[in-house]
Amino acid sequence: MDRIAIEGGARLEGEIQISGAKNSALKLMAASLLTDECLRLTNMPRLADTRFLGRLLQRLGVSVIEGDGEDGAQTEFCAKDISSAFAPYDLVRQMRASFNVLGPLIARTGHAKVSLPGGCTIGARPVDLHLRSLEALGARIDLHEGYVYATAPRGLKGAEIEFPMVSVGATEHALLAAVLAEGQTVLRNSAKEPEIGDLALCLSAMGAKIEGIDTDTLTITGVSKLNGATWSVIPDRIETGTYAVAAAMAGGEVRLTKTRADFVQALLDKLEEAGATATATNDGVEIKRNGARLNAVDVTTEVFPGFATDLQAQFMALMTTAKGESVIRETIFENRFMHVPELMRLGADISVQGGEARVKGVEKLYGAQVMATDLRASVSLVIAGLVAEGETVVNRVYHLDRGFERLEEKLGACGAKVRRISGPPEDGEG
Ligand code: EPZ
Repeated sequence: MDRIAIEGGARLEGEIQISGAKNSALKLMAASLLTDECLRLTNMPRLADTRFLGRLLQRLGVSVIEGDGEDGAQTEFCAKDISSAFAPYDLVRQMRASFNVLGPLIARTGHAKVSLPGGCTIGARPVDLHLRSLEALGARIDLHEGYVYATAPRGLKGAEIEFPMVSVGATEHALLAAVLAEGQTVLRNSAKEPEIGDLALCLSAMGAKIEGIDTDTLTITGVSKLNGATWSVIPDRIETGTYAVAAAMAGGEVRLTKTRADFVQALLDKLEEAGATATATNDGVEIKRNGARLNAVDVTTEVFPGFATDLQAQFMALMTTAKGESVIRETIFENRFMHVPELMRLGADISVQGGEARVKGVEKLYGAQVMATDLRASVSLVIAGLVAEGETVVNRVYHLDRGFERLEEKLGACGAKVRRISGPPEDGEG
């Protein structure tokens, strides 16, 4: 199993081109099930997760053709005929976003059998809100032996849905189902993450009628058929934020291009407060940090446009060597501090109580063997490794490969000493 080794101490200087957003691409891919014409997605990230969902779509009868175009990598998804409406456990368990095929399958074929995704390391992550919205749209849902059996023989019907809490996945799922439902659907207390706007605009390009995009109330007037389209995936705000934190950690000057500063404004404000400089440019953002040690600042994760939970681990890594004590509150997931014991192996001083971590900045981190536990936790260890004295080796790199395209190449191009070691698993790994 591959590992990533980082030799700490190098400043970062240069440019990193940001890829298309994983969490947008996955939902756009699910949208391809809604039409018998082809959906071509450009600026596609090539990641383990997108490959994985591509394989599930193929199992359902979708043809998936990868290529290259002016706007980077592209993939064409053609769901002319859906040959199966069954998403088995082994394919949904490995990647939760696979569950998003449920709504489109019901909308297109009137029935589906999709495995429940189960929990994951960052929390229980139930799908009750997804299922309640599909029921509100007229689907009959039965749960047996870990599977959702859904039917809507006479099609889905528009409904008024008020989400009791903000959920990115449930908003996207309801939107994916409602575009082909008969009549009007209103989704209140919807999530406003940029990936939802991207999905809504792509669906509109496919012929859907959606109002209120980027607000918390989406009004959808169902259409009987959607057409194909070509759509460019928005830039990955979490990859953007991750490299911004990496530059602030290592010091130097890094230009992040083909992205948008406004997608990560809450993070940039915190980086400035800590003493780094973040300047929006016409195609991204430039991060500078010269000399002085950063100051500790507090963060609380929130729904967009607040500080993203997917950047919490990275920011905590940054705070491990800041001057003073920083309080980091996680409010979105109940168990998203799995990186803490690993950061402590590098010499960080962190204590956790409930959803709050107190990080006392230390002068120095020291390289060690560490274990990746989930996607964002693993990249926080790479960030810490950028300044740790000696070598840090991050095991279980498959977590990183799920969501960061060519990470070692992108960081390496800016001078980081990062290399991938291919080889057999470490003791206890696997
Ligand atoms: C999406 O997950 C992202 N995943 C996550 O990124 C991200 O952390 C999260 O949104 C929040 O921004 C994808 O887009 C594939 P939620 P999602 O529904 O949709 C609870 C990464 O690293 N909830 O907004 O699953 C839930 O347990 C991943 O790329 C229910 O209780 O997040 C959580 O506490 C990790 N019932 C909260 O809501 C439900 O039916 C927010 O979850 C649904 C959610």
